[in-house]
Amino acid sequence: MATGKTIYIAVVGVGGVGQAFLGQLAQLQQRLAKKSPPTNLTLILVRRSTKQLSSPDYKPINIGTALAELDKVTTPFPQLIVSVNYLAKAPGKVVLVDNTSDLDFATVYPLVLSKGISIVTPNKKAFSHTFSLWTRIFEAAANGSGPEGNGFVFHESSVGAGLPVLSTLNELVETGDEVIKIEGVFSGTMSFLFNSFQPVAGGGGTFAAEVKKAKDLGYTEPDPRDDLNGLDVARKLTILARIAGLPVESPTSFPVQSLIPAELKDCKSGDEFLAQLPEFDNRMDEVKAKAAKEGKVVRFVGSINVGSKEVKVGLESFDKSHPIAALKGSDNIISFYTKRYGSNPLIIQGAGAGGEVTAMGVTGDLIKVIKLLR
Ligand SMILES: NC(=O)c1ccc[n+]([C@@H]2O[C@H](COP(=O)([O-])OP(=O)(O)OC[C@H]3O[C@@H](n4cnc5c(N)ncnc54)[C@H](OP(=O)(O)O)[C@@H]3O)[C@@H](O)[C@H]2O)c1
Ligand SMILES: *[C@@H]1O[C@H](CO)[C@@H](O)[C@H](O)[C@H]1NC(C)=O
Ligand SMILES: *[C@@H]1O[C@H](CO)[C@@H](O)[C@H](O)[C@H]1NC(C)=O
Ligand SMILES: *[C@@H]1O[C@H](CO)[C@@H](O)[C@H](O)[C@H]1NC(C)=O
Repeated sequence: MATGKTIYIAVVGVGGVGQAFLGQLAQLQQRLAKKSPPTNLTLILVRRSTKQLSSPDYKPINIGTALAELDKVTTPFPQLIVSVNYLAKAPGKVVLVDNTSDLDFATVYPLVLSKGISIVTPNKKAFSHTFSLWTRIFEAAANGSGPEGNGFVFHESSVGAGLPVLSTLNELVETGDEVIKIEGVFSGTMSFLFNSFQPVAGGGGTFAAEVKKAKDLGYTEPDPRDDLNGLDVARKLTILARIAGLPVESPTSFPVQSLIPAELKDCKSGDEFLAQLPEFDNRMDEVKAKAAKEGKVVRFVGSINVGSKEVKVGLESFDKSHPIAALKGSDNIISFYTKRYGSNPLIIQGAGAGGEVTAMGVTGDLIKVIKLLR
C-alpha cells in the first residue's frame, strides 16, 4: 500500500461557520483516510477569542470532542504569533482555517503564508482592507506570485458564502474572457429585507417593521446598523472588483448608500435604533411608491462596471421580470456580464449565508489546497 501524507489542520474561530466546518472536517478526514494513497488530516490547534487548545507533540486532537476540550482549557491564552510559530514547526504541511471575522488576524496573513502555512477562510476583512494588504497577501501566496514553498490562500466563502462566485470569476478572468459588469444582491440580510419590504406581488410591511422582523428571525447582525450601513456589501464588491482587475483602495473608496437615517447614526444601542426607526418610515415609503409607480420594485444591490472603473452600492429599482426582483427569501444573486456571455449574463443564485453552506465553501477550499500540497 502506498504511504500516505499527513496534513496538519488548525482552526481559529468556532462560531456558526467554525462548528459546521468541524463537522465537515470529520467527514473529510474519514473519506481521505480510505483513499489510495491515503491523506491523514490531523487537527492540531483550535482557537477562539479567549482560549486555545493545541497538541504539543503534533498528535491528532479528536475532532468530535475538540470543542468540549477547548471549553475546559485553563492554560493562558497565547499570542497569535506564538501559535503561528508553533504551526510553522509542525513536521508537515499546515492549513490554517480562519473562521473569525477578525482583522488583527487578517493582517498577519502575509507572514503566515511566508512560513509555508496555507490559509482557507470565509473572512472578508483581509481581502477587503487596503489594496496594499491585498498585494502583500498575493505576493506571499504560492498561488499568487510567492515562492513555491509558501502557503496557498483560498477565500471562496468571503463572497456569496458557499456559492461558487470567486472561483467562477477567477475562471472567467484566467480563461481570457472580458468581464464587463458584475451586478447583484450580495447580502442575505438585505435580500430578505427588501423581498419582504416590496414583494413583486405587492404588499409588504413598513421598513422599520421589516427590519425588526429580520432581526427577530436572526437574519441581521446583533445591531442591525451593521447590515444597514452597506459596508458588508461594499467589502464583497471590493474583493470582486480586485479579482476583476480594478485596484480598489478600500470599501470606503466608492459610493456606498447607508440605510441608517443620519439622525440615528449615534444611537447608543441597536435596540434604541430599532425603537426610533419607525419615525423615518416615510422616507422609505416614498422610495417604494416611486418604484411602484414605474411598475418596479426596489432592491439593495452592488455593481461593478469594469470598463468605467465604477463601483457602487445602494438602492436601485428593477422591473418585476428582472431576476434581481424575483429573488426569494434571503438568497443572493450575482450576474456576470462578459464578452463571451453577451447579453445573457452568467447568473449564480442561492443561499448566500448560513453555517453549513458557508462551511461548504471553506471545506471545498481545503480540498483544493490538499490537492495542491500533494
Ligand atoms: N455565517 C455566515 O453565513 C457567513 C457567510 C459568509 C461569510 N461568513 C464569515 O465567516 C466568518 C465566521 O463567521 P461566524 O458567523 O462563524 O462568526 P461567529 O459565530 O461570530 O464566530 C466567530 C468565531 O471567531 C472567534 N474569534 C473572534 N475573534 C477572534 C480572535 N481574535 N482570535 C481567535 N478567535 C476569534 C470567536 O471566538 P469566541 O467563540 O471565543 O467568541 C468565534 O468562535 C466571518 O468572517 C464571517 O464574515 C459567515
Ligand atoms: C466558521 O465560521 C462560520 C461562520 O461563523 C461558522 O458557521 C462555522 O461553524 C465556523 N467553523 C469553525 C470550524 O469554527
Ligand atoms: C496521522 O498522523 C499523526 C501525526 O503524525 C499520527 O499521530 C496519527 O497516528 C496518524 N493517523 C493515522 C490514522 O494514520
Ligand atoms: C489563489 O487563490 C485565490 C483565492 O481563491 C484566487 O483568488 C487566486 O486566483 C489564486 N491564484 C492562482 C494563481 O491560482
